[in-house]
Amino acid sequence: TTQTQVFQLLQTSSFTNISSAEVSGVAFLGDVPIYTLDPANWSIHFHRPWASQAAAEGDIGKIKSHSKLFLRSMVRFVHETAQQAQLDYPFVVQVRVGCVLYPNRTSWSFMDVGVSGRDLITFEMERQRWKPQQSSLLAELVSKSLTNKAIIGLLEHLLSISCQSHILSLCRYGRADLERQVPPVAVVFARTPSPAQLLLVCRVTGFYPRPISVAWLRDGQEVPPGPALSTSAILPNADLTYQLRSILAVTPHDGHSYACRVRHRSLGSRSLLIPWENHSAAPTVGIAIVVLVLVATASAVGFWWWKRSHSGSSADLTLGIVLGQDLLHS
Ligand SMILES: *[C@@H]1O[C@H](CO)[C@@H](O)[C@H](O)[C@H]1NC(C)=O
Ligand SMILES: *[C@@H]1O[C@H](CO)[C@@H](O)[C@H](O)[C@H]1NC(C)=O
Ligand SMILES: *[C@@H]1O[C@H](CO)[C@@H](O)[C@H](O)[C@H]1NC(C)=O
Repeated sequence: TTQTQVFQLLQTSSFTNISSAEVSGVAFLGDVPIYTLDPANWSIHFHRPWASQAAAEGDIGKIKSHSKLFLRSMVRFVHETAQQAQLDYPFVVQVRVGCVLYPNRTSWSFMDVGVSGRDLITFEMERQRWKPQQSSLLAELVSKSLTNKAIIGLLEHLLSISCQSHILSLCRYGRADLERQVPPVAVVFARTPSPAQLLLVCRVTGFYPRPISVAWLRDGQEVPPGPALSTSAILPNADLTYQLRSILAVTPHDGHSYACRVRHRSLGSRSLLIPWENHSAAPTVGIAIVVLVLVATASAVGFWWWKRSHSGSSADLTLGIVLGQDLLHS
């Protein structure tokens, strides 16, 4: 792997009453969903065929084959601890666990537990201990119960060694999918919220991976950040691609040329340059019609005047119509 990779498992469990629990979970490598725990029967659904191969290997393979046993123990532990801490039902337990693997092969692991939307405890890898994130009987009880040699030793192994090797397996089996690149599609259009203001919109969508650079050029020079420039957050599409838009406020007819420039890994060293075509349809047609009506009126008046002073000829009327048509087509 030449890039930083993040593997994380997100688990959410709803505890409605003393005898019920609904557990769901999803694993991600970066922004790619890898597998999901089915809340109905606790079986694992693989989002990608290669994820199943990677998950069959090493320690993750062992955990997977014992996942139901592990989940049952976890549910029992939560119910028991809730009773000891006199925690009222219903409540939700969230766990976020995983690791970051850097290109230099060093890694960093994390495990955080929250209850009903508040941080409860976090695992400190370096010091091999649980740290309460709130001052409550519950946080104290949970960190105390989980602080025993067997659990800490297992966690340390899973978080540092197993997690790293799982990332490497996933990257090996899923290379083609993980390294997929989809080039952005960009369009430029204008909005006129008021006659004195023109908003140039550059909409960029359908790209993967997420990092992208979108800039506006005024007469070929990049417009620096400022109040006239606003760029949205990068938002996900349903097909694991992304979109964003960048809006530049300008004064209409300011005589400058504008273009939107997009740079993305899928484009290599090239960039996408979409100029704003300074003849937005609606106003131009509007102006043409006004001019045409004026010309028609003027020529009718002129023709009437000409007809009064000369004897009748249809030649000039024809000329007037031809001129009018030329104007309409210009
Ligand atoms: C516990 O909750 C489940 C579903 O939320 C419900 O079906 C069950 O009847 C409840 N049990 C008790 C003892 O209240
Ligand atoms: C678990 O339930 C899902 C539907 O919720 C079903 O598609 C799947 O086949 C079930 N798996 C097993 C092992 O029963
Ligand atoms: C490895 O890379 C990470 C992130 O770039 C850096 O924080 C860390 O210090 C590096 N470790 C070593 C041993 O070079």
